[in-house]
Amino acid sequence: MNYQWYPGHMTKAKRMMQENISLIDLVIELVDARVPLASRNPDIDELGKNKARLILLNKSDLADPKENKLWMTYFKDMGFHVLEVNAKTGQGLRAIQPKVQEACKEKIERDRKRGIKNRPVRAIVVGIPNVGKSTFINSFAGKACAKTGNKPGVTKGKQWIRLNKELELLDTPGILWPKFESEEVGKRLAMIGSMNDEILQMTELATELLTYLLENYREPLLERYQIEESGQTPDAVTMLGAICENRKCYKKGQEPDYEKAAALLVDDFRSGRRGRITLETIQGGEEA
Ligand code: G4P
Repeated sequence: MNYQWYPGHMTKAKRMMQENISLIDLVIELVDARVPLASRNPDIDELGKNKARLILLNKSDLADPKENKLWMTYFKDMGFHVLEVNAKTGQGLRAIQPKVQEACKEKIERDRKRGIKNRPVRAIVVGIPNVGKSTFINSFAGKACAKTGNKPGVTKGKQWIRLNKELELLDTPGILWPKFESEEVGKRLAMIGSMNDEILQMTELATELLTYLLENYREPLLERYQIEESGQTPDAVTMLGAICENRKCYKKGQEPDYEKAAALLVDDFRSGRRGRITLETIQGGEEA
């Protein structure tokens, strides 16, 4: 299976990001809490090296709470500021403002010493596609967005959303492309739905996912599909067959429809219906 489908706009995107980053004080980097490493592009560390950084572990509602805590520590240890959020419901967003002040305290102090008063922190939101950038900007700055957008004659080009007297946000997020450093990374991005499903083989993807779930989230998986533990460890293919039965996926003539069962499983996982699952653990992630 070929996991690399992103088109070749990367150089242009990188240039745009370089241009924008020079204007800002703080990079708000969104990562997907289910795959906090695969959903990062390490180029951002070089691009944003002299800027304060706030990492948002987004979609934390879909990820394993225990693993979220470990990832928080991991990013803190790297010297970043970090918060767990759910951009969709707005959970965790209230903690951002104080965190921004903390992350930018050197800049604020520098301004104060130079006699510059009330210059807001300028921030940009960055992340790979589908990580929740637009959802975040809308939830975090929704009202302010609507205000500027409706004004007649707003100038085209860069728009700053003034959230309050302390913070301005660039209205368009910076898109980073995922870095396919290994097939593992590609697979994980495919599992969370950050790739075009048309090019993916669902049964292969589902089998990979089942192998991981059997190793790491065995009980909830068996329970969900009402599969009895029978002494023998079921393998991923047996599991897929069992899901066909459980979800009544049959072709004509009662032949199991593995494709359909695979798509149902992957969809269940992506939407969180299989519970809160993290695909990268600190150790496993570092191996990737
Ligand atoms: P992007 O700008 O980075 O490309 O991502 P975008 O905001 O478009 O979000 C991608 C999908 O992720 C959306 O789902 C969005 O609702 C969902 N999402 C964003 N943040 C969170 C979160 O914290 N938790 C959960 N559970 N989902 C989140 P969609 O299916 O494309 O759209 P919709 O049907 O939800 O509107």
